[in-house]
Amino acid sequence: MQYFGLDFGTTNTSLAWVRQDGGVTLCRLDPPAPKADVLRSLLYYSLDERGFIVGQRAIDEYLAEDMQGTLMQSIKTFLADDSFEETFVHDRFYRLEDLISIIFRHVQTAISELTPDEDSMVVIGRPAVFVDRPEKEAVAQERMRKAAQLARFFNVRFLYEPIAAGLAYESRLEQPEVALIADLGGGTTDFTVMRLGTRARGDRREDILASGGVYIGGDTFDARIMMGKVARHFGAGSTFRSMEGRDQPFPQMLLARLSRWHHVAFLRAQRTQEQLRRIHWTSSARDKIDAFQDLVEGNYSFFLYREIERAKSELSANERTTLRFHRGRIAIEEAIERAEFEQLIRPDLEQIERRMHDVVGEAGLTPAKIDSVFLTGGSAQIPAVRQLFARHFGDDKLRAHDYLTSVAYGLGLSAAAEGMT
Ligand SMILES: Nc1ncnc2c1ncn2[C@@H]1O[C@H](COP(=O)(O)OP(=O)(O)OP(=O)(O)O)[C@@H](O)[C@H]1O
Ligand SMILES: [Mg+2]
Repeated sequence: MQYFGLDFGTTNTSLAWVRQDGGVTLCRLDPPAPKADVLRSLLYYSLDERGFIVGQRAIDEYLAEDMQGTLMQSIKTFLADDSFEETFVHDRFYRLEDLISIIFRHVQTAISELTPDEDSMVVIGRPAVFVDRPEKEAVAQERMRKAAQLARFFNVRFLYEPIAAGLAYESRLEQPEVALIADLGGGTTDFTVMRLGTRARGDRREDILASGGVYIGGDTFDARIMMGKVARHFGAGSTFRSMEGRDQPFPQMLLARLSRWHHVAFLRAQRTQEQLRRIHWTSSARDKIDAFQDLVEGNYSFFLYREIERAKSELSANERTTLRFHRGRIAIEEAIERAEFEQLIRPDLEQIERRMHDVVGEAGLTPAKIDSVFLTGGSAQIPAVRQLFARHFGDDKLRAHDYLTSVAYGLGLSAAAEGMT
């Protein structure tokens, strides 16, 4: 029997493997990617290959096929959304579990290259945001279970992602502690208050004092940059003349679609194209409407969002950056200061802060009673996020490492513990 931990994230997926000696290592899930142990949770339906490809190859093929196939990202966002029934891709309908299973199958293939042993047990992470909504929790759980089955993972357990991150942090501890684990990912921010270093085994139920989360993550911050800094290059703030001869603001609905890149594809509908042409006629900013048309027709939104993400990440290290994007008639050169970005995401940080307080309260504690705060997830690298926690707990209590892989590592530790029982 082989034991694994699988973190299927909104943005990134990682796999940890328990070696014969009981140690846990991260697997190379995406060898062509810049960081091979992190697989982008991205699907591409390739017209050439007549099937789905994932990770770095998905991006490469999308480009090679001139953006003609279908690219999907952040599918985990819909995990507990029962209004998502099916989506049509190329020539058939896919349920959410079908889409997730495509990523899981890629993982299954990586496992078979790692070991000839066909018997495996996998601990899969799940977000803590539905903790207090059992009906959502059930939908999410059932879909994950079905996706696992479709990918021929027959022996699976589930563990809350922030608890897994807690186990990863615990592996470095020498003293018992009460810790707040905060996992800020691409789709959600999840919390757990946990007793660590107690030498307890099993599911650790008695050590977990509270868990919870909010639907805010890196995707939310990208959308804030889109609306705050980029949308005006596509007509936000401009006006056009209606048939009755009145000046109207650029339609809110078109802007709302822009704020989520996977919705931009919907703008290719003929009705939208006609609407854009009508607006163009009397627009106060025709060049911006040209840019909007090119974004939609050229299928550039994925690359625009990638540039937004790059700029955001650069602001974690530098005080300022320039967001640059030139394709067709789109010409964006937008300087962004870190302080400006912090202003844009302030409402999101306030919501994160409130949920954090609630979870600490549900554990029957106050910040002063928390010994340490372990920050993980890609978005925890944002300086304003760190400052938020420093304000409440003090800088000396903050711990952080392996932002992108500690959840997978902790799931691996949990799998290793199963192996020993
Ligand atoms: N240096 C950085 N600064 C700010 N944000 C970053 C940085 N690096 C990565 N991110 C963001 O972190 C997010 C991905 O983090 P992570 O891999 O932890 O998420 P995930 O596990 O896929 O998502 P979730 O746990 O919500 O399902 C993305 O939104 C990405 O843009
Ligand atoms: Mg995550």
